[in-house]
Amino acid sequence: MQNIILTNDATSELKSLIATSGSDKVFALYDENTFRHCRSLLANLYGEVSITDIIIPPTDAAKNTDTLASVWEALQKKGASRSSLMLCIGGGMVTDLGGFAAATFKRGINFINVPTTLLAMVDAAVGGKTGINFGSLKNEIGVFREASAVVCDTNFLHTLDAENTNSGFAEMLKHALLSSKEMWSRHISFDLINPDFRTLLPMVGESIEVKKNIVAQDPQEHGLRKALNLGHTFGHAMETLALKRSNTGLHGYFVAWGLVCELYLSCVLEKFPSDTMRKTVQYILSNYGKPNITCKDYEELYDLMLHDKKNSGGVISCTLLAEIGDIRIDRHPTKDDIFEAFDFLREA
Ligand SMILES: NC(=O)c1ccc[n+]([C@@H]2O[C@H](COP(=O)([O-])OP(=O)(O)OC[C@H]3O[C@@H](n4cnc5c(N)ncnc54)[C@H](O)[C@@H]3O)[C@@H](O)[C@H]2O)c1
Ligand SMILES: [Zn+2]
Repeated sequence: MQNIILTNDATSELKSLIATSGSDKVFALYDENTFRHCRSLLANLYGEVSITDIIIPPTDAAKNTDTLASVWEALQKKGASRSSLMLCIGGGMVTDLGGFAAATFKRGINFINVPTTLLAMVDAAVGGKTGINFGSLKNEIGVFREASAVVCDTNFLHTLDAENTNSGFAEMLKHALLSSKEMWSRHISFDLINPDFRTLLPMVGESIEVKKNIVAQDPQEHGLRKALNLGHTFGHAMETLALKRSNTGLHGYFVAWGLVCELYLSCVLEKFPSDTMRKTVQYILSNYGKPNITCKDYEELYDLMLHDKKNSGGVISCTLLAEIGDIRIDRHPTKDDIFEAFDFLREA
């Protein structure tokens, strides 16, 4: 089971992890932004441990073979061995690419994830999926390899912009919906406009627990792990459409809108309680607004859903809920159901 550490003091946690790791050399992978904003929080660590920094360009656009090769090259030139350790300090881009670089360098060196975005804390940095984009496809090349530890410190989040905070919180809301009514009610009363990062730390912890428990039951994504896809069948389609039209938007916003559609379908098809659905929808719309879609987009969105790599055999599969925590995977809404759900989102 993955070692997840929640802390207000990433420096001392990393110090003791490094001391007990038995590694000969320590490398720290940052992107340009996390190098600028997050390294200073680890100043004391650098005072005591010799660490070689590797800096890569930021964002998903750089999650590619060129950047990967540059990391392998830096490790090789700077004398990394089979028993070196890499710290991946950044958002999901850094933990995905860094984890893959570490998993493949000399057939695998140990790595520790230090997520610096909310999304990476509750999602990308845990669960063992690593990889890069390839040939215009997202996460096309990669391996399952768990970080030896994940150190989550919400102090890193003070420099993160509001959109990225909201984006990560959407995955937390998803985890709450998959878990319990008690967890859900705390999430839909969390103030996203003035987030309190101290309150957020234990919430990050319970969110990771939800993901960890689901992944532990289905590490290679054959069944139950599909629960984590809640909000994503609709969300991915809207995200891909936005991308095709070169509209920008962060993943979590599309997940939040996907949750609106899929909770609506949960009510219609699985008798999910409508008051719970309405409260969740209200929270989402007031914090995330609405996507820029019209009824003229439905056919294209439907087509994108049909061709999503998570669907096969010409049917659309999604995860629905019969109640908070009562998960129904592999549900197949009809085309009419799907159009109705988009109507609901637009008119809500
Ligand atoms: N492996 C998985 O299971 C999994 C799950 C979900 C997402 N992902 C991947 O994660 C990536 C998205 O992750 P993300 O949302 O963290 O994006 P990201 O890593 O691109 O970070 C978003 C932006 O915030 C900046 N940033 C990061 N931390 C900061 C901080 N503390 N202060 C200021 N700026 C900061 C980054 O430089 C970047 O510009 C995608 O590549 C996605 O495919 C992987
Ligand atoms: Zn997601």
